Amino acid sequence: MAPPPPIGANSTAARDIANVLHPYTDLKTHQEVGPVVISRGKGVRVWDDNGKEYIESVAGLWCAALGFDNERLVQAAANQMRKLPFYHAFTAKSHEPMIDLAEMLIERAPVPMSKVFFANSGSEANDSAIKMIWYMNNALGRPQKKKIIGRRKGYHGITIASASLTGLPANHRSFDVPLPGFIHTMTPHYYHEMAPGESEDAFASRCAEALETLILTEGPDTVAAMWAEPIMGAGGVIVPPRGYFPKIQAVLRKYDVALVVDEVICGFWRTGNYWGTQTLNIQPDILTCAKALSSSYLPISAVMVNQRVFDALAKESNDIGTFGHGFTYSGHPVPAAVAIETLKIYDELDMGAHVSDVGSYLQTSLRERFGNHPLVGEVRGTGLIAGVELVADKAERRNFDPKVKVGPRLMKICEDAGVIVRVSVNDTLCFSPPLIITRADIDEMLDRISKSLDELTVQLRREQIAVVR
Ligand SMILES: Cc1ncc(COP(=O)(O)O)c(C=O)c1O
Repeated sequence: MAPPPPIGANSTAARDIANVLHPYTDLKTHQEVGPVVISRGKGVRVWDDNGKEYIESVAGLWCAALGFDNERLVQAAANQMRKLPFYHAFTAKSHEPMIDLAEMLIERAPVPMSKVFFANSGSEANDSAIKMIWYMNNALGRPQKKKIIGRRKGYHGITIASASLTGLPANHRSFDVPLPGFIHTMTPHYYHEMAPGESEDAFASRCAEALETLILTEGPDTVAAMWAEPIMGAGGVIVPPRGYFPKIQAVLRKYDVALVVDEVICGFWRTGNYWGTQTLNIQPDILTCAKALSSSYLPISAVMVNQRVFDALAKESNDIGTFGHGFTYSGHPVPAAVAIETLKIYDELDMGAHVSDVGSYLQTSLRERFGNHPLVGEVRGTGLIAGVELVADKAERRNFDPKVKVGPRLMKICEDAGVIVRVSVNDTLCFSPPLIITRADIDEMLDRISKSLDELTVQLRREQIAVVR
């Protein structure tokens, strides 16, 4: 591997090291290694400040759905900036971009929804929905029904409540979360969690039984809601078996536990349908979304609630005198205008048909190219979201020792080869490219990754780390 170029005094990299505290970064190593400074983008590609080009295999953070240079979104923001750069939504103030966007989301909702609340990030949307659930149950006269169920390896954000809901150790360790009242059920990952000889359907039933046991152990009168991503993203692109959600929902309905579906990654065609909810056959009471809502050009997220939830919120707020929740930037007109334009572009481009074409091409290509690769345990995904899990031993489905740092190594090799990748839990290479990706872009992206995986294999064999039978 080529050593990193020396960091020049007063370069952008040096100034980054001196001044920036990076999210999701080993802060100490960063002081020595420094950042990759991205300075421009076009289509599915970005360039660093040395002029090196990269294909973005994960659209930044699963989010820049329309790529990195959509001029219509720039114009939508500029026009709205000139007309009304800020207004708020407190005390019944409103403005057209927020009203139009709420209406568009209600029209596009996968199940009948009543109202939309806006926030600025996925974490804020989930935090807001947690508070709505608690508020609702106070309104319904059941103040003890407050516990929230997440899933191990689920990801719902990093604010204190959403991090409590998240089921990943790195988001809990040393942060003193989860808070009391947040509990986690099993991960629906057949590849790792199946019992010997168990069918996918039997495994899905066992997941539902585990959920029921958890609810009964905690006491159904104390459990308010369950949160789920249709396909778990940050947890390693985990696609549950087909029958999983109907079985889970039957249990939730039995104990009057609400279902909140986190569509922050899966929403807006990512899984091949407008919503992951449709791909996985789910009927949520509340739906949260963000990221591709504005193609992430500006921060905005949304919480959609059904009539039953809204009626309870309305009653309680009327008793108290106000719904005492909201952000200065809830429904901010500029991100709202960008989101409206984004949703129009999805419609005009017939994004569903496009994702159906390039998504099946991506899924087939990944399986053809990597299915039999010596380091690859499982290839999974649907539409334009996929995971390629690397294992130390294919036969035993055994992951690498985290000390080997397979993920960071692969990321570095891929970056040298001109592709930015995300390697998440269990060394899973995650794919969530901009939705506008073409078949030719996919070929080029996979060529670069294929070369990188081969180089990693050579390294790991040389160090006698990978078991190759
Ligand atoms: C499914 C899911 N929910 C919530 C979040 C949190 O969103 P944010 O980082 O905007 O707070 C993410 C972020 O990746 C996510 O993937």
